[in-house]
Amino acid sequence: MLNEMDPASLQGTHRPATEAAHAGEIAPRDLGTSVAQPIYQTTVHSFKSLKELDRVQTNPDEGWFYYRNASPNRTAFETTMARLEEAEAAVAAGSGMGAIFIALSAVLKSGDHIIADEKIYGGTFGLLTQQLPKFGIETTLVNTADELAVRAARRPTTRVLYFETLTNPTMQVSDVPALADLARQLNLYSFVDATFSTPVVCRPLQWGADIVLHASTKYIGGHSDAFGGIVAGRADIVKAADLAGRMMGVTQGAFDAWLNVRSLKTLPLRMTAHSQNALKVAEWLEKQPAVGKVLYPGLPSHPQHELARKLMPTGLYGGMLAFELAGGPQALDPFIGALKVVQLVPSLADVTTTLSHPGLTSHRSLSAEQRANIGVKDELLRLSVGIEDLADILDDFEQAFRQL
Ligand SMILES: Cc1ncc(COP(=O)(O)O)c(C=O)c1O
Repeated sequence: MLNEMDPASLQGTHRPATEAAHAGEIAPRDLGTSVAQPIYQTTVHSFKSLKELDRVQTNPDEGWFYYRNASPNRTAFETTMARLEEAEAAVAAGSGMGAIFIALSAVLKSGDHIIADEKIYGGTFGLLTQQLPKFGIETTLVNTADELAVRAARRPTTRVLYFETLTNPTMQVSDVPALADLARQLNLYSFVDATFSTPVVCRPLQWGADIVLHASTKYIGGHSDAFGGIVAGRADIVKAADLAGRMMGVTQGAFDAWLNVRSLKTLPLRMTAHSQNALKVAEWLEKQPAVGKVLYPGLPSHPQHELARKLMPTGLYGGMLAFELAGGPQALDPFIGALKVVQLVPSLADVTTTLSHPGLTSHRSLSAEQRANIGVKDELLRLSVGIEDLADILDDFEQAFRQL
């Protein structure tokens, strides 16, 4: 086998300690295109000369030199995400929050101001209202469905209009083209977190947004085994976000990037199955006496169903929905305790069906009053509908409701 490999750096025969220390330093000859990408679990690459090292540092497209800056697995992930979003460029980060942070860092400086939707994910709420003020960046939270409220919140220092395609967990549909247009009129960047929808369901850049963000920890990964985030869109902003990520050290590791690439292969299939099951589960839940409000953009009863049909033209609305228990907060424990297939999990987007309580998890950093203002009631549950057999999901809910 050895003669099929070119030794990359160690040449000739050496003593055992030297041979052992240099184990693995091989540069495979051209093997053709591998169907599955190898994992490049190396933090650094070696070079034959200073000139070669300088060339790669000056032109990152020509190779990789240090893991925090770029790695082959990350590049593979970023390239595919840019294609799926039809973005000029994309950069990965170590988590969804990392992606949001580097994207904002790309365009903001101390003294700047953000207008964000009041229903955003609790972690983003924490970043905007607790962390960024330490760096002199302020945020005003508004209902972005109210154009006048957005206009009224604008200051001379406002730079970004920030919202989510589908809000977590209240499932409000944002009017992406209208908000992207409003941002342009107000001379702001439009940033959209599309974690709940993925490029299979909705592509915000096509509707005029400047930047789309994903927690790839969720649907893009899809198996609860990888962490990551993506910033995609305008090349100038992505380049600045990439630089910020390198400096701040929020890089995605090779194995997580590799897992995200592996999962992208089935993203369209999974999103189709998630969406089909979720619509059926939402329709069924709406008919249950134990259930109050059901929030799913694919339901005709959803307040922005027509908007959802326009922005999600494939007829897929994703796997996320929320519902209230008619019995109020006291019904939560008996209901959750009776479930056998559906698991209580403080995350979402796994291939299995999982349930979470936003008040105690994703929106924990909000006060009870702030939660009430955005409709996150104590009896609200967020459901991430998986790709299992629909009948087993419904049977599990049915037997759990019977216990109430
Ligand atoms: C909409 C949304 N954006 C961003 C994030 C943050 O992702 P991560 O946990 O990978 O940092 C989450 C996490 O749940 C989310 O739901």
